[in-house]
Formats: sequence, C-alpha cells, structure tokens
Amino acid sequence: MNFIELATQRSSVRNFAPMPVEKEKLLQVLEAARIAPSAANFQPWHFIVVTEPVLLQLIYPLYPREWLKSAPLIIVALGDHSRGWHRGKDDKDFTQVDLAIAIDHLTLAATELGLGTCWICNFDVEKLQNIFNIPDTLEPIALIPIGYPDLKVQPVKIRKSLEQIVHWNDFEV
Ligand SMILES: Cc1cc2nc3c(=O)[nH]c(=O)nc-3n(C[C@H](O)[C@H](O)[C@H](O)COP(=O)(O)O)c2cc1C
Repeated sequence: MNFIELATQRSSVRNFAPMPVEKEKLLQVLEAARIAPSAANFQPWHFIVVTEPVLLQLIYPLYPREWLKSAPLIIVALGDHSRGWHRGKDDKDFTQVDLAIAIDHLTLAATELGLGTCWICNFDVEKLQNIFNIPDTLEPIALIPIGYPDLKVQPVKIRKSLEQIVHWNDFEV
C-alpha cells in the first residue's frame, strides 16, 4: 500500500473480532507513535497499554458503548502538559497537537498491519485519571481500542472536497 492507499484504508473501527493482537504487531504500532514528530522534539507523550480484563472493565463505563467491549485492548494516550512546547509569544501549548500526530501515526501503522482502531475522545477524563492515578499535568487525550476489525460492510469515506478546503493564494469562504 502506498501512503494515499493506507490513509484511505484507515477508518474508524467500532466492531472487533474476538482475536488477540500479537505483541510484535502491538510493538510496531507503538514504535510508529514513538517516532512521530513533536514541537521542539519534546515528545510529551505516554501510552498506557491496557490488556488486563479487570482494568478494561473499569474503562468501559467511561465510554459506555457496547462495541468497545469487543476490543482486545485499549491504548490510553496521555499528553504531558508539563513537557509540551509552549510558544513564547502567546504561551500556546502544543501538547495536543503533538499527541494528535503520534496517535495518527499509531492508527495508520495499525491499519497497515491489518488492525483496526478508533479515536475516542468523548470519555470521562477525570475518572480515567483516577483509575491510573494520573497526575493533573498529564491529560488523557484519547482512548484507542485496537484489534482485528470485524467489518460486515466496507466503510465509506465522507469528506469535504478539495475545492471546499484548499485556497490557492487567497482565502474566501
Ligand atoms: C479527535 C477525534 C476524536 C474522536 N472521538 C470519537 C469518539 O469519542 N467516539 C467515536 O466513536 N469516534 C470518535 N472519533 C472518530 C471520528 O468520528 C471519525 O474519525 C470520523 O467520523 C471520520 O471517520 P473515519 O475515521 O472512519 O474516517 C474521533 C476522531 C477524532 C480525530
């Protein structure tokens, strides 16, 4: 697969087959996140790989969707705001941007390996912090369930057209 094919192939998977993910593949997916670029190369991220059923049971209520339970594991992506780069002029914190890039690397690498993922941001952050005793400077940015997709139908990509989003030498909306 070339890059455009890979990026097109990736789509949110919300139903997983009851198959474990090989450790080797999981490490490759994490490696893809590790090598992502970040502002000033500060790499303000941590990834909690949750495979223990007892812990998974604690996470499910934080994003109560039946499909989540089909994933064999969930990665919790944490942004460390105390380590992220802040722009001098306005103190803008780029931690979220860095995390988004790392997570995108991760999901694309997973796709290449035949695995499915889904970004989840609509979860109870505070409760998640309590489960893992995460300090306040670290923000759980996303839950990323990973597993082999169990897709009945091939997802369709719904996207704005290039004309709607690209502006050649000027900006008008
Ligand atoms: C920052 C972000 C947050 C998201 N949060 C959720 C979420 O909480 N629950 C969910 O089911 N999907 C979530 N998604 C997945 C989006 O709905 C999905 O990426 C979008 O509809 C495009 O579909 P595709 O990923 O299949 O291409 C999120 C995606 C992103 C990038």
